[in-house]
Amino acid sequence: MAKRTVIANWKMHGSRAEARALARGVRRLLNNRFAAVEVVLAPPLTSLEVVRQAVEGSRLLLCAQNLHWQPQGAFTGEVGADMLRDAGCSHVIVGHSERRRLFGETNAESGRKVAAALDASLKPVLCIGETLEQRGGGRTWRTLSAQLSGALKSVPKSVSGSLAVAYEPVWAIGTGKNATPTQVMEAHGWIRRALKRRFGPSEAARIPILYGGSVNPANAPDLARVPEVDGTLVGGASLEHRSFAAIVGAFSEREG
Ligand code: 13P
Repeated sequence: MAKRTVIANWKMHGSRAEARALARGVRRLLNNRFAAVEVVLAPPLTSLEVVRQAVEGSRLLLCAQNLHWQPQGAFTGEVGADMLRDAGCSHVIVGHSERRRLFGETNAESGRKVAAALDASLKPVLCIGETLEQRGGGRTWRTLSAQLSGALKSVPKSVSGSLAVAYEPVWAIGTGKNATPTQVMEAHGWIRRALKRRFGPSEAARIPILYGGSVNPANAPDLARVPEVDGTLVGGASLEHRSFAAIVGAFSEREG
């Protein structure tokens, strides 16, 4: 597996001035350190441009938090993949549990978004994860399976290297209760096997599987050591540049 990836998902937080300061802070702290990690910032749409300027000339990459699957048209409030590329994004988060839970995004819609992102040469970061109720009811694998197959149905085998998957158990997001390394190992192992069935072993090996859910500087070293963890998607702890940089540092430790 190549570089690990650490993504800051700022969600709906911050003014442009705050986004600029945060991006500059991350850039300054990372400087030339932790070069083994791909570092990606996902600000709100309104701050894409100031963050693009703040990271210009550095290795930091820009990510959107959502997209629409149509390239253009009468879709008030939506933004298409080509527009995000034009705004400087290389990545886009798809199917985050907040989109699914609060805005009714379905597996089929996530699939259309993945396809649209790939068409525009944007790397989709497909988020999947079970609720506490699904886990408690023994439906974790069934849930992940439906999310994966729904979203990856139309992805050709040859582009699997342009895709990332994030395992984000819903019960671990924003709760301060991260999945344990054992739970993460089990889930990522399951996801890797599912990807092998879908894409074949060599293509599946090129898809990074990130963990997300209450990652912070204290638990990052243990999570980074788990086999099959190729990076992380960080929410709350990415809103402070020192804690985000510490997480990047933890993920630079693991041997590839
Ligand atoms: P927290 O790190 O705040 O739990 O959020 C995780 C997440 O949803 C990242 O996409």
